[in-house]
Amino acid sequence: MHEVIATPPGGAELRVPAVGFGTWPLRGQECREAVAHALSVGYRHLDTARMYRNEVEVGAGLRDSGIERDEVLVVTKVRPGDADRAGVRREVEASLRELDLDHIDLLLLHAPGSVPVEETMGAFREQQEAGKVPHIGVSNFGVDALERASAEAPIACVQNEYRPGLDQDDVLAWCRRHAVAYVAYSPLDVGQPAREVLAELGERHGKSWAQVAIRWLLQQEQVATIPRSRDTEHREQNLAVFDFELDPGEMTRISALD
Ligand SMILES: NC(=O)c1ccc[n+]([C@@H]2O[C@H](COP(=O)([O-])OP(=O)(O)OC[C@H]3O[C@@H](n4cnc5c(N)ncnc54)[C@H](OP(=O)(O)O)[C@@H]3O)[C@@H](O)[C@H]2O)c1
Repeated sequence: MHEVIATPPGGAELRVPAVGFGTWPLRGQECREAVAHALSVGYRHLDTARMYRNEVEVGAGLRDSGIERDEVLVVTKVRPGDADRAGVRREVEASLRELDLDHIDLLLLHAPGSVPVEETMGAFREQQEAGKVPHIGVSNFGVDALERASAEAPIACVQNEYRPGLDQDDVLAWCRRHAVAYVAYSPLDVGQPAREVLAELGERHGKSWAQVAIRWLLQQEQVATIPRSRDTEHREQNLAVFDFELDPGEMTRISALD
């Protein structure tokens, strides 16, 4: 599996499998089976959150798969409303219990909220020092909030919305400058006109519009992504993106999509 490598100042190296499996809004048995299937076909990066209310099933799917725990990057997120010092302690314990794991590989703050980010990052660091959370990151952050967060903790990953037609240049540039991984969520939430262009380009490579969208993301420095699918064939398709390359003209054409 291709990886994005983050080396945040003051933090440990984080290797992010370039295509992870998004689990929102999967719940219950469907989620458990989807996670086990995703791992069986090669995914090694699982994205969940307290907000998704599926950590029990994500953990169960991981065990069902028989894949070694250490081979998988497990990511969860604390809700902004729980991001005060006591809340982080409580929510990390809840995630560990529900996932039934002894550590969470990467803990993200789900979004900025009313708790000062300095307090949240201090609480994340406590969890890191206790060995429960080797890596720390944030989600739905702009550059100003990133500057504040990274002054308090070694931010290894930013998870923000990104796909063809959405401009994220400033946060991407920040991530590259600081050797931070950028994980693109909702990578396939692409409108019909853009899908048609992606499909046309895909025909040249024998790939679908979705594979072209994912490939476009992965050909950008520091970018990984977490597509979600209820469909077993789509899950396999979304991982089959390492055997073709978009040329510079194709990359530019996709970047110009509105
Ligand atoms: N940090 C945050 O605030 C945040 C916010 C939103 C999402 N996320 C994370 O990002 C993950 C992905 O984002 P998302 O769930 O919003 O959307 P997404 O992955 O961009 O899109 C999912 C949609 O694409 C379809 N799809 C998947 N693979 C396809 C393929 N190969 N061909 C055609 N259609 C395909 C799915 O349908 P089928 O099921 O039929 O395949 C589904 O309708 C979430 O699951 C979650 O883990 C994070």
